[in-house]
Amino acid sequence: MTEAIRATHSRLSLKLQIAGIDNPRLDVRLLIAAATERDPQDILLHDSQILSSQEISRVEAYVERRRCGEPVSRITGEREFWGLRYRLSAGTLDPRPDSETLVSASLSMMFQKANPPESILDVGTGTGCLLLSLMTEWPEARGVGIDIELDAVLTARQNASLLKTANQPTFLVGDWLSSLSDRYDVIISNPPYVSSSEIDNLQREVMFFDPRRALDGGLDGLTAYRQLIPECRDHLAIGGLLVLEVGAGQDRDVKKLLSAAGLEKIEVHPDLSGHIRCITSWAP
Ligand SMILES: C[S@@+](CC[C@H](N)C(=O)[O-])C[C@H]1O[C@@H](n2cnc3c(N)ncnc32)[C@H](O)[C@@H]1O
Repeated sequence: MTEAIRATHSRLSLKLQIAGIDNPRLDVRLLIAAATERDPQDILLHDSQILSSQEISRVEAYVERRRCGEPVSRITGEREFWGLRYRLSAGTLDPRPDSETLVSASLSMMFQKANPPESILDVGTGTGCLLLSLMTEWPEARGVGIDIELDAVLTARQNASLLKTANQPTFLVGDWLSSLSDRYDVIISNPPYVSSSEIDNLQREVMFFDPRRALDGGLDGLTAYRQLIPECRDHLAIGGLLVLEVGAGQDRDVKKLLSAAGLEKIEVHPDLSGHIRCITSWAP
């Protein structure tokens, strides 16, 4: 069987709509593009093109996975973040658009300084999206990303070579900052911050497809911050910037931990929905 893109798109969008999936037309467009190695734009512009029976089978298999709740990014194995494409793997979090707030906050905070940072450390790097996005903005900087998951470190290395940043970063396996001795001008981190009891109530797209270690922040969601913040303080250069993502309602507790560690000029930064998503602070 062959079919025009337009017909496949309508037929499969209806299938997702009936299954209660949000944005079915967009999802099917992205899945057709991935399954047939076309640009998503071409799916709209050239919708009279005929798909072969093999292409249709591939698209149908992708749409079936979507119908069962798998996110589009997990099916295609890719996610766009800060305008760049990142590969995902089983050991990486699927980067969230809200985490772009950390990149924009880093840029606006460092704008106050005479010079861009010479060194950046990303703790709990996952796909490497925070570090690599900053390294495209500050191409002279030396970058280090660390994660406890070997699979995440291998994926971040692959993303770095695909993105061809001017300086290639170093990605290491490690438990927070315990294996590091250098100091950094910027330390950025999106640690796991969902309380253990909340994890099982998350959307199925998060619960089944993101690794638990990327989400689980312990009993009250703050376990990683308690360990990370003093370690970050000890690895910041004089006048260095710490940029942390926080979950809903965690800003007051995280601010207290930052003050207790001796960090200064603590500021919060909202995401595009107006929720506090990021906290910055400076080493004295
Ligand atoms: C919320 S994810 C953030 C991933 C990525 N930075 C992002 O924003 O998409 C947290 C990351 O911390 C890592 N992680 C968890 N415990 C860790 C530890 N003890 N030391 C280092 N990394 C850890 C997880 O493997 C995961 O990649």
